[in-house]
Amino acid sequence: MARKLRAAVVGLGWAGGVHARTLDALDGVELVALADPDPRRRTRFPGHCTVPRLRDLLLMDLDYCVVAAPTAAHEHLALQLAAAGIPALVEKPLASTAAAARRIEDAFHAVGVPAAVGHTERHTAPVAELARLLHAGEFGALWHIDARRQGPYSGRIRDVGVTLDLAVHDLDLGAWLAEAPIESVSADTVRVAGPHEDLVTATARLSGGPLLSVHADWISSYKARTVQVRTEAGLLISDAIAGTLSLHANSAPVDGQGGFRGVSSGPSIALPVAERPAPFTVQHALLRDVLLGHGDGGLVTLADGAAAVAAAEAVLAAAATGRTTPVAARALAAAA
Ligand SMILES: NC(=O)c1ccc[n+]([C@@H]2O[C@H](COP(=O)([O-])OP(=O)(O)OC[C@H]3O[C@@H](n4cnc5c(N)ncnc54)[C@H](O)[C@@H]3O)[C@@H](O)[C@H]2O)c1
Repeated sequence: MARKLRAAVVGLGWAGGVHARTLDALDGVELVALADPDPRRRTRFPGHCTVPRLRDLLLMDLDYCVVAAPTAAHEHLALQLAAAGIPALVEKPLASTAAAARRIEDAFHAVGVPAAVGHTERHTAPVAELARLLHAGEFGALWHIDARRQGPYSGRIRDVGVTLDLAVHDLDLGAWLAEAPIESVSADTVRVAGPHEDLVTATARLSGGPLLSVHADWISSYKARTVQVRTEAGLLISDAIAGTLSLHANSAPVDGQGGFRGVSSGPSIALPVAERPAPFTVQHALLRDVLLGHGDGGLVTLADGAAAVAAAEAVLAAAATGRTTPVAARALAAAA
């Protein structure tokens, strides 16, 4: 029988619980241990080996480790894994600052050990299909991506605001869907209750011209997870909650001679969305296959994760200063 990868999870809150259940059910992987400093969290995993700290896991001959602690702890934990030569899946956002994200990227690069970032939204079925179609060039020129992520506050996230916690998903999705890094952003935020912003709205300029609008908040009593993409061929709408993808076709597309004839409402078409495993399962299967040497694509790289954090940092700077803010050059180069 083929060897199973020995995996562990550090941080046993909401995300760590999903990772643990996913690893328990995944072929080819054995969940060998779990770490969390909070003893109450450790009791939630009967039948598993649980320890208080990451350093207790480092001698367990791990093939990889998931970092699902609060964002502010990602750098410290990820750097320990890199130093021990252990591959990692670090939850999103990769870190709470662009500089910390770059240090993580550099550390894994220096030891030549694989690592990925948990931007699971790329793996939801309608978004994955939207990306496949856009990357195949099915819809002509891409003009504008408009991403909306809203809902009530979970009460869990206290170390970062909604920009780093939620908008970072869509900053990553926008650059990935358009295959163009974010060059600059303007933004504004609303703070209602917490120490950080509770709502953010940002406009980002992508390399090559398309525009990306991102709205994220955790002060809405109605939950939405949509991405709209305006293209020559029509408006595409992915709805990650409904699990749907639709094309509202442009019945006056660019003609064969290159002249733009404007936009008018054509038929609305429900595009087929193939069933896929849950996003957490998809990302673990991708990482497992890379580590077993028979997969090479689809993971969110540390460079992509660092670029998303740099864009989120630029969003916060733009909101604080009221000025359009460039995204750090390295993030641009990495995402290009
Ligand atoms: N990919 C996704 O869809 C997704 C969804 C939710 C959360 N997340 C990310 O996962 C991370 C955790 O979020 P959450 O909602 O699970 O938070 P949470 O508050 O529910 O859980 C965090 C856990 O980490 C533990 N912890 C604190 N410091 C630690 C340390 N130094 N070492 C080990 N464990 C430590 C806490 O005791 C707690 O059990 C965040 O970075 C968040 O952005 C990602």
